[in-house]
Amino acid sequence: MKLIIINGPNLNLLGQREPETYGNQSFETYFKELQTAFKSAEITYFQSNIEGELINKLHEVGFDYDGIILNAAAYTHTSIGIGDAVKAIKAPVVEVHISNIYARESFRHQSFVAPYAHGIIIGFGLESYRLAIQSFVYI
Ligand code: DQA
Repeated sequence: MKLIIINGPNLNLLGQREPETYGNQSFETYFKELQTAFKSAEITYFQSNIEGELINKLHEVGFDYDGIILNAAAYTHTSIGIGDAVKAIKAPVVEVHISNIYARESFRHQSFVAPYAHGIIIGFGLESYRLAIQSFVYI
């Protein structure tokens, strides 16, 4: 099973950025734990701060991979282009957020990805990603 985690803007700073909201662990360290935990799956990781690069990556993997785990970060709430890309591709996309976006500012309550997502996992810290992988591996 081929899965990819796609992270959007500012998530390269996980571990340093607002640790009270996003935790103390870098994504690189956490990603290694995930790869060890799900040896049967081939999991890759891509991060970009650039909207078009995220769209290009969705196009690149979206007709080939078994599943995409997408945390579009702030672009979730602003990007019609990323929403359209999720709608256009064939691979199922699970939308993930580390924090509970509905317990935060109202501008975070809108998602342009959600209408086209296969499922949504929100608010379990970094473990949101593990739950998303489990949804592909076990369901
Ligand atoms: C986030 C929530 C977004 O509102 C925010 O802009 C992020 C991270 C999360 O994972 O909790 O950068 O997607």
